Amino acid sequence: MRTLLLAALLTVTGVAGAGAQTYPTKPITIVVPFAAGGPSDALARILGDRMKTTLGQSFIIENVTGAGGSIGVGRALRAAPDGYTISFGHLGTHVANQAIYPLQYDMLADLDPVVLLPSNPMVVVSRNTLPAKSLQELITWLRANQGKATAGTAGAGSGSHIAGVYLQNLIGLQFQFVPYRGTAPALTDLVAGQIDIIVDQASNSMQQIRTGNIRAYAITDRKRLAAAPEIPTVDEAGLPGFHMTLWNGLWVPKGTPKDVVSKLNAAVVEALADPAVKQRLTDLGLEIPERDQLTPEALGAWHKAEAAKWWPVIKAANVKPE
Ligand code: MLT
Repeated sequence: MRTLLLAALLTVTGVAGAGAQTYPTKPITIVVPFAAGGPSDALARILGDRMKTTLGQSFIIENVTGAGGSIGVGRALRAAPDGYTISFGHLGTHVANQAIYPLQYDMLADLDPVVLLPSNPMVVVSRNTLPAKSLQELITWLRANQGKATAGTAGAGSGSHIAGVYLQNLIGLQFQFVPYRGTAPALTDLVAGQIDIIVDQASNSMQQIRTGNIRAYAITDRKRLAAAPEIPTVDEAGLPGFHMTLWNGLWVPKGTPKDVVSKLNAAVVEALADPAVKQRLTDLGLEIPERDQLTPEALGAWHKAEAAKWWPVIKAANVKPE
């Protein structure tokens, strides 16, 4: 009897060990909770392309949108904890939404951290036809168009929405939020002059700013962006303190084997060290975290700290789900 039990135990551990050792044996899905073509999608695709080289399996990007990204996160964390479904997200989807939506899941309890990803500041942008050439002139125009001016977002709780609420509070003005399934479709409408402004991730607006299809007013950081040194900081543009950097991360469903998490983490670390990948990210205005910040434990600790910091603020702001 004892030998049977031992044999069974060995088999199970052998198989589990073997499973993790042979992982991955099929394509891996990254669930991006926003529309294709946006900043989250772009970052997930750049990493997936390079991780394929390390792990020898292709990465499928599945865009599951809606409710500020909370639907996509729910889809990912309900998947099997086997390393074949990864949840991509950021401050909005993996922190803010817990304080806004009546979620059937718990961000901190139902997910295991894999790695912190590059972050980027936000940029205040407008349609080209808006009669303002500086941030001060934009604020004057918003004051004159109180309640009428429209700001595109990726839904309540998204990065562009949190930044929009933050701007509203700082300048004491109200504008109408227009929710989209991501900032890619919002940007399309901004270029077409259908909406007035977006407080967007720099990586999303960068191309349209460079081609002059939209107007940029300020970067929500203390230092200018190497990728766009012509854009002033909010401090230089006369709105000191409007600092916001949107960080991103990867998580897996709770209970995913530790060796699988380590393999995924190592593949991202390798991708972020790749000169070609680094150049693409820098060109988009993305900043790569320091090496010691690239462990699963570091993301776990950061995630908890951000939740503790932002939940009271967002609850106090009484942000309503759309
Ligand atoms: C997107 O990919 O559309 C963004 O991450 C949305 C946002 O949070 O503003």
